[in-house]
Amino acid sequence: MKELKVELKNNPYKIIIEENLLENNLCKYIKEVYNNKKIFIITDDCVEKLYLNKVMNKLKNDFELDYVVIPHGEESKSIEQYIYVCQELIKKDIRRNNLLIALGGGVIGDLCGFVASSLYRGLPYIGIPTSLLSQMDSSIGGKTGIDFYGRKNILGAFKQPKLVLIDPKTHDTLDKREFNNGMGELIKHGVIGNKKLLDLLKDKPKISEEIIYESLKVKKRVVEIDEFDTGERMTLNFGHTFGHIIELKFGYKHGEAVAVGMLMALRMGMDLNITPKECYDAVYDILKKYDLPLDYYDYKEYLHDTIFDKKNLAGTVNFILIPKLGECMIYKLSEDDLKEKF
Ligand SMILES: NC(=O)c1ccc[n+]([C@@H]2O[C@H](COP(=O)([O-])OP(=O)(O)OC[C@H]3O[C@@H](n4cnc5c(N)ncnc54)[C@H](O)[C@@H]3O)[C@@H](O)[C@H]2O)c1
Ligand SMILES: [Zn+2]
Repeated sequence: MKELKVELKNNPYKIIIEENLLENNLCKYIKEVYNNKKIFIITDDCVEKLYLNKVMNKLKNDFELDYVVIPHGEESKSIEQYIYVCQELIKKDIRRNNLLIALGGGVIGDLCGFVASSLYRGLPYIGIPTSLLSQMDSSIGGKTGIDFYGRKNILGAFKQPKLVLIDPKTHDTLDKREFNNGMGELIKHGVIGNKKLLDLLKDKPKISEEIIYESLKVKKRVVEIDEFDTGERMTLNFGHTFGHIIELKFGYKHGEAVAVGMLMALRMGMDLNITPKECYDAVYDILKKYDLPLDYYDYKEYLHDTIFDKKNLAGTVNFILIPKLGECMIYKLSEDDLKEKF
């Protein structure tokens, strides 16, 4: 078992990483943060088939349980599913001191978290992320929300969970591409903030409690400094500035696009004499070991598009570059610099 505590002033919470947690200590950990009876589980139809009964069986002697299932996939991060989930919960007579559990990937986590932030002006919720991507990224940091009007994550709120429970055993049922999707973010954490994590990955081990722990340490540290995403959190965007463009243009999964985007940012760093070549080679080798895409795109061709990325503040592009493995820096480029230097 590995444990991390996200030290936020008003909403501190634990992340527990434990192999077979869903089979063994699930009930114990929930009882540590919740002492009422009623729990509502929100999940999608894929995760329902794999894990809902398992979870309900472990909890049924200690809690009164009910659940809401929505279709799987990004389309469910919608206002329609938000309304559906709220309606079902109200029909089922949810009260403001009841607990929600988000059982599933990032879609369930983001939607359930948003319901938890808004229904009764806020309900407690626990995240049980089951995809590697949600374990690495979306379940930590309190960003919740849905897509609306053609825009991703445009309606949302910051809402921290009471607890996050990660069982690495859930990786056994993920298909290869979903697994890779999370690996992109996991490796990113090593590159920007934890050299030890990259060393652990060298021999392509199975993703263990320790590896998840080392990866989440990086996200936790950044979230603690910048709970509401006004500065430091942008370092988590390493690989994303180019990655977002590639993802939309060529249909990669998010984590795969992050892998390709990291290589582009590393090459940009090399051209600016910020990133040593060994650094690029080391990241390339790890991505290759885990079968992530290594496709080459010339970053210079995409620099112009980065100006239109929604994350860039008026006229300045913040690139996250790597001076050394396990360290990152923010490199600001104005539109004028951009024209001049590249
Ligand atoms: N809030 C944040 O900070 C944050 C950060 C990153 C991503 N996100 C969001 O997360 C979402 C993507 O998350 P995702 O990749 O988990 O998508 P997802 O929730 O759609 O899950 C991917 C697929 O895997 C299935 N699945 C989940 N766990 C499984 C398991 N153990 N075995 C087999 N199948 C399983 C799901 O049913 C789904 O079909 C996006 O909407 C993205 O915007 C949010
Ligand atoms: Zn990402």
